[in-house]
Amino acid sequence: MCGIFGIVTNNQEISVGKVVFDGIKRLEYRGYDSCGIVSLCNSKLYVKKEAGKIDEIYKNVKLDEVPDGTKLALAHTRWATHGTPTKQNSHPHLDCLNKIAVVHNGIIDNFMELRNELSSTGHTFNSDTDTEVIPHLIEDFMKKGFNLKVATINALKKCKGAYAIAVCQVDNPDTIIVARKESPLIIGIEEGKTTYCSSDIPAFLPLTRKCYIMEDNELAVLKAGEVNFFDLKNDNELIKKKIQNIEWNIDAAEKGGYEHFMLKEIYEEPNALRLTMKISEQLLSKFANALLSADNIYITAAGTSYHAALAGKFIITRFLGKHIQDIECSEFETQLKGSLQNNSVIIAISQSGETIDTIEAIRWAKKAKSVKILTITNVVGSSITRYSDHVIVTNAGPEIGVAATKTYSTQVLALALIAVSIAKIRKIISDEDIIKYYDALTGIPNIIDKFLEKNVDLIKYIVNNLEKNMNYFFLARGISIATAKEGGLKLKEVACRFIEGYSAASAKHGPISLVREGFPIIFIAPPDETYNRLVGNVMEFKSRGGRIISVVVESDVKITKLSDITIRIPQPADKYHNLFSPITFMPALQLLAYYAALAHDLDPDKPLNLSKTVTVH
Ligand code: M6R
Repeated sequence: MCGIFGIVTNNQEISVGKVVFDGIKRLEYRGYDSCGIVSLCNSKLYVKKEAGKIDEIYKNVKLDEVPDGTKLALAHTRWATHGTPTKQNSHPHLDCLNKIAVVHNGIIDNFMELRNELSSTGHTFNSDTDTEVIPHLIEDFMKKGFNLKVATINALKKCKGAYAIAVCQVDNPDTIIVARKESPLIIGIEEGKTTYCSSDIPAFLPLTRKCYIMEDNELAVLKAGEVNFFDLKNDNELIKKKIQNIEWNIDAAEKGGYEHFMLKEIYEEPNALRLTMKISEQLLSKFANALLSADNIYITAAGTSYHAALAGKFIITRFLGKHIQDIECSEFETQLKGSLQNNSVIIAISQSGETIDTIEAIRWAKKAKSVKILTITNVVGSSITRYSDHVIVTNAGPEIGVAATKTYSTQVLALALIAVSIAKIRKIISDEDIIKYYDALTGIPNIIDKFLEKNVDLIKYIVNNLEKNMNYFFLARGISIATAKEGGLKLKEVACRFIEGYSAASAKHGPISLVREGFPIIFIAPPDETYNRLVGNVMEFKSRGGRIISVVVESDVKITKLSDITIRIPQPADKYHNLFSPITFMPALQLLAYYAALAHDLDPDKPLNLSKTVTVH
């Protein structure tokens, strides 16, 4: 959560104000409670900050206008943790003398203690944030005669918690100091000219493809077109890091004619899936063999990634012949303390690779026992990969919309590919069947393309039809419970509706009591082994006045007859395709959520109170 961006340059051609403004705008998905920019010029800091989304702020505060001749600037977009989303609590935060500015992503756990200590020695604070202690600590160390770099190192030694910080100081107009612990930080570089720091790569991708990915406990000194890294754990020794060349196409991180990232990313699903199909056989069999030789298997993640885990668990267990226990990452340690055994395998899923609860779950497990971590992420080099034995990168390309869409489908696809690889190794199904499962997987992108081509008007019609409803059920059985939960989560987060994504069978043990005339119930109904029982559940809800919207395959008859509206997925009604319905059925529900957000005048890319990357517990 929170995004930081910085630039230091000697390139006269560059408009620092525009670059830093564009950079922070690209990071807005990380938090949009407030935004601030500090520029350093003529030995003075110029701060502009305000609460709200960047576009709203810009109407009154021209964030991109900085004094002529500015060569260095830092920016921040905030997802509030400590202190309400106000101008005062917006970053950057300064020291008492207005000489040092800091932007920060993370949480300083012991900030209260530090703040009391600093206040008692005469420091004045202007915000309720944890961050504000950092410039004051640096100020203290500089007063003692340390230079900016050493003062920052000493300040960080006093801070417990997580941080990616960028610091500038008026007497060092050509230097930005950055440091990272548990929050992402990337350095982009145009050698000899300009250096950038950013919470992610797409923010500087239009400017350079060359970058360094910072690791935990590293500090870097950035000058124009030059960077030096230091190891905070090893006497602040100078370290050599490998420069990376980013292959992503910048179009992938821009809206490309779509009104919102969410819509663009739904339409990118077929291609993202095609690319994810290319995961090497070798890597898949590493995952498969690790699972086959494990005594216990867990699968863990948060939010949408957890729903992908539920779907994937179902698919894998079909062929694995062993139980997989799913546990939400925030509950992992609590639930497994005392029972986690050696020779367990944990599948961890995180599109960003930065979700702190997921990282902590696997870090704890690694420390507690001899376990293997198999990770599925969308971000090469993300924090989670450091704690993993094997990593699958899903190839969905950058996902900017806060609501996960294409990363969900590709996560489920990666898990499905592992499942088929297991079936192959175990030889539990015929070669002919293996080919049919592969063919079904290969055909998914075309099914989604076809669906998206023909169904947008229907989805808009459903949205209009349901417009006034505040509450919904998403019901299903078997593998589709994961689809119901994820479809429900999408509508909940972007359209601010209350949705219960639930088992259709369990719904009659309580939730059904909510149903009145016209109550909308969305049934996810692929023709798998649960279908006939689901027909019964549809009747139970229909007879109580429920308005039935069902998602079915094209050839469906029975549930179609019982439904007020059907969404038809153009896929064959066979067991091969049914097993992968969490992927083929999902774009319908994602589109439903997207158009519902528009109908309610909400910005689907910036759902209320959310952030794309959740780096707090
Ligand atoms: O980056 P991760 O996959 O670890 O993120 C997990 C959740 O925070 C994320 O899926 C969240 O639920 C999204 N807003 C869902 O759209």
